[in-house]
Amino acid sequence: MIEDPQNVKLNEQPEPSAGNAQVSLGVTVVLILLSYVGCYKVDKLNANFAASVHGPFGSEEEVRSLAPSAEEIMLSKGEKDFKSVCAACHGPTGTGGAQGPALAQSEWVTGNPRRTAAIILKGISGPIIVNGKPFNGAMPAVGAAYDDERLAAVVAYIRGSFGNVPNKAYTRDELLQAVSEARATAESQDGQWSVPTLETAYPGTE
Ligand code: HEC
Repeated sequence: MIEDPQNVKLNEQPEPSAGNAQVSLGVTVVLILLSYVGCYKVDKLNANFAASVHGPFGSEEEVRSLAPSAEEIMLSKGEKDFKSVCAACHGPTGTGGAQGPALAQSEWVTGNPRRTAAIILKGISGPIIVNGKPFNGAMPAVGAAYDDERLAAVVAYIRGSFGNVPNKAYTRDELLQAVSEARATAESQDGQWSVPTLETAYPGTE
């Protein structure tokens, strides 16, 4: 027999409609807890989002312990200027050459740092004896435009390199002070120094 199409029982659900069922309180609490734990974990892994700490470092103390000291930063700045400016004449290892006398074992480097700074600021010409060896040339005022920081950096670098041992140890601040004194004295110097004018302006070998 043929079934009446009107009478077929359709096996269908009612049309879905938007209701207003609520998320249960338990689920909400669990979700809040999970996101709290998640945020806490992410914070921890990122040193509590410290602006100065990035992977692979885990804390500000660790970063601080690995950062170079002010002295080391100064030396590396000085090394840069030595290599790009001074090495051309004084040799890459400071042992001198036809263009300039040695900076290694030089009393002009290991002695009074004001003298060393003054040479870089104004240049020097005429006869000079460096570690017992006479030289007679002319160094231009290569550091005329250097600020105290830069001048002190190159002085610090050559004082502590090439096997040099300064007559007196200077801290970074003392060296900055010495360089600024050297600059004040050098102001009245017209043109390059000669050995006599330099020694008169900067007495003392420490
Ligand atoms: C163009 C070559 C030239 C350059 C660049 C140069 N110098 Fe010199 N420097 C000389 C000459 C030449 C003398 C010796 C001058 C003389 O005979 O009176 C000298 C002398 C010196 C002295 C004293 C003598 C000694 O050997 O210790 C110092 C210190 C010195 N220079 C440091 C420097 C530093 C630091 C720089 C770089 C910032 C530098 N010079 C760049 C040529 C140069």
